[in-house]
Amino acid sequence: MTDDVQDNATRKSADATRKYANMIWQYRQAETIAEMIHLGDKLDLFKAMANAGPLSADELAAKTGLHPRWLLEWMRLQAAARVLAYCGDDHFELPSEASDLLANREASGFAASSFMGGHTPEQLAGLMESFKTGIGKTYESDGPETVAKSEARHRVAAERSVVPKMIPALEGVAAKLEYGALVADVGCGDGALVIALAKAYPRSRFHAMDPSRFAVEHVEQRAAENELTNIRAFAAPAECFPLPEQYDLIITFDCMHDMTQPQAAIEEIYRRLVDDGTWFIKDIRSKPSFEDNLRNPMLAMMYGFSLFTCMASAMSEPGGAGLGTLGFNPEVAERMSRKAGFARFKLHDFRDPGNLYYEVRR
Ligand SMILES: C[S@@+](CC[C@H](N)C(=O)[O-])C[C@H]1O[C@@H](n2cnc3c(N)ncnc32)[C@H](O)[C@@H]1O
Repeated sequence: MTDDVQDNATRKSADATRKYANMIWQYRQAETIAEMIHLGDKLDLFKAMANAGPLSADELAAKTGLHPRWLLEWMRLQAAARVLAYCGDDHFELPSEASDLLANREASGFAASSFMGGHTPEQLAGLMESFKTGIGKTYESDGPETVAKSEARHRVAAERSVVPKMIPALEGVAAKLEYGALVADVGCGDGALVIALAKAYPRSRFHAMDPSRFAVEHVEQRAAENELTNIRAFAAPAECFPLPEQYDLIITFDCMHDMTQPQAAIEEIYRRLVDDGTWFIKDIRSKPSFEDNLRNPMLAMMYGFSLFTCMASAMSEPGGAGLGTLGFNPEVAERMSRKAGFARFKLHDFRDPGNLYYEVRR
């Protein structure tokens, strides 16, 4: 090899190392920015800045009652990250396109509540332990605090989209609910959907089910606050419904991939539907192959959710199926449904960028 060729190779390798290091540090920077978006949401800073034009730290302090020096550092960070626009002379503005994402809790696109401020050392230790034992953790083991973390977003989606647009798109379902039907919301979580449905269809009865007792307590509390007498909540997994009832509609939203025994759950759902009943599924928009999913620009984040939450839940007992966040794709959903005896499987694309919907019948 000549000296020139060797120099070139060394330079190329140094460039590659620099580029790679830059990428790694971008991720570290994103972690910090995410924490500070979470903080801004918790302190209502985005809300205070929405439609306020350019503000100095003193002006934001006057609006919020918070300390200006700390606000200035936070504003500079957000401007460096392009989350706030820098207007010169230490004035900062929340761009109008950020309002729904960061400041408006009632907007369907509100995202700030998804920034959770990192994980505790205990959660990280638990995850490391899972890598050794193979056993994950249930949603309940995260405690009561996490149950309602996305409730506002779920409520807006339920009231603006699921009730007025999706339910009417399911064959015959809206008419049954108007008349008076029995509905199970399986893996109900914070219950935002079942509360919206129970309000919209007062003649129908709703059974909310979730293995997490914190979820069940939360739904019971929300039902009481809303003076809804047509909801009952049960601590139960999908594999084993708590009452010997048959349902006109069974809903599983964003939970099939979290289950340790999804096939057993689908078989129980099959048994628990009346003959012309409907199983309505929402699950993460994904493709069967990893190669195809690589086109999703948020894919790495999805795998992060899976390791911390979805796959952890789906592996929370020995022999857990472990589908994980991306695991209940259309191919898997259809195969498992047909195996349980379902004959009709319809994919609905309601233009939800993160999820697909399935209408399944006998
Ligand atoms: C991501 S949350 C979704 C909650 C709610 N359906 C929603 O759309 O917001 C997943 C829920 O599935 C529940 N879950 C986990 N394993 C389950 C099982 N075997 N049967 C029923 N629900 C289960 C969890 O407790 C959790 O509340």
